Amino acid sequence: MTDDHIEIRGLTKRYPGGDPERPALSGIDLDIGHRHFVSLIGPSGCGKSTLLRVIAGLEGHDDGSVSLFGESPRELCRRKAVGLVPQTPALLPWLTVRQNVALPSKVNRRAPRNGDSPDELLRAVGLDDAAHRYPHELSGGMRQRVAIARAFGLRPEVLLMDEPFSALDEFTREALQIQLLALWQSRATTVVFVTHSVHEAVTLSDRVVVMSARPGRVHEVLPIDLPRPRDREVVSGLRTNDLERRVRTCLQSAWESGAAPDDLIPPAGVR
Ligand SMILES: Nc1ncnc2c1ncn2[C@@H]1O[C@H](COP(=O)(O)OP(=O)(O)OP(=O)(O)O)[C@@H](O)[C@H]1O
Ligand SMILES: [Mg+2]
Repeated sequence: MTDDHIEIRGLTKRYPGGDPERPALSGIDLDIGHRHFVSLIGPSGCGKSTLLRVIAGLEGHDDGSVSLFGESPRELCRRKAVGLVPQTPALLPWLTVRQNVALPSKVNRRAPRNGDSPDELLRAVGLDDAAHRYPHELSGGMRQRVAIARAFGLRPEVLLMDEPFSALDEFTREALQIQLLALWQSRATTVVFVTHSVHEAVTLSDRVVVMSARPGRVHEVLPIDLPRPRDREVVSGLRTNDLERRVRTCLQSAWESGAAPDDLIPPAGVR
């Protein structure tokens, strides 16, 4: 059955000109349940962003299959049922912050639903004061928050987020994590979330997928059986610490099992 979850089987992706022996993704098998929150974590270059772009229907693949609740990524993309917050926020530079956030409902010719007006979305990410500014007038973290507000407004069935909070200070990050969990729990959204933070992966997710690099593979999938809501007591509890330790151990073995990047090996004659 593929219509009740995201099903990825034997997924292999090679980029033109890349090492054919070490595809960006190799034999990825992954199941993500409807309305689940899954994080991808792994060394730089292990293919996390590539996997998100394949799921989003923005990149093709060479072997294997991807089914999103019975549909192909391109079908879901065509229905505008998938939202992607990319690693580098893609805002239209000639539109204000407010206009950028309002763009999806304008393009889809759909009035924003309750709670999804551009002003409400900007308030949710703490940017109500910046509504009339242009992207070039914002910091990197502010741009990232505009991209997040825009993705929230889409009300996607599948929300793909690529290190969305990496450029944010600790307090804004925590506030947005709470916002994200509230959004995920109140709407029928499945979230696939990329992060380099073990703490973030554990405290947000139902499962953490640890990937290894060169080629990009699923190294291990760890279930996170912490109760929800993930309040302060849960987040700072012993069980959370224990799970974080397990993810770290797994990351260490994923790092050791991957081939060293060629550019970390000095060319002959260089010491
Ligand atoms: N457009 C592209 N053309 C060629 N190779 C690419 C392209 N995009 C990514 N790659 C290669 O594919 C591999 C996986 O890259 P990807 O960006 O998916 O990694 P990542 O896990 O997201 O890394 P990071 O944590 O640094 O963001 C890398 O070896 C990268 O060089
Ligand atoms: Mg990436």
